[in-house]
Amino acid sequence: MNTRLCKTEDIADPGSRAFEIGEGHQQKSLFVVHKDGQFTAYLNRCPHTGVNLDWQEHQFLNMDNLYIQCSTHDALFEIDSGKCIAGPCVGDALDPVKLMIRDGIISVNLA
Ligand code: FES
Repeated sequence: MNTRLCKTEDIADPGSRAFEIGEGHQQKSLFVVHKDGQFTAYLNRCPHTGVNLDWQEHQFLNMDNLYIQCSTHDALFEIDSGKCIAGPCVGDALDPVKLMIRDGIISVNLA
């Protein structure tokens, strides 16, 4: 089943937004990054310790909006690939989430 997240216009470019979908054991935290017109999404879980990446709600990008940054130990991840390129988990990567975008609506299917 598809879960609608938001409209494309709801996330600034550059910008990011967190979502909680599902319930109970099925609940998942994810986030969407909008950068240069592209939308990418990952589970909100740092490969270093498993914590959420954002310290301030919806804030996943570093100061210059070039990388995804973990707020706990400052690991940096490539926006397109999710690969960690600096910090304690270099070589690891975020778990990608496939987005569907139709008629300006962003949705996911995490069944
Ligand atoms: S928990 Fe993310 S870098 Fe340590």
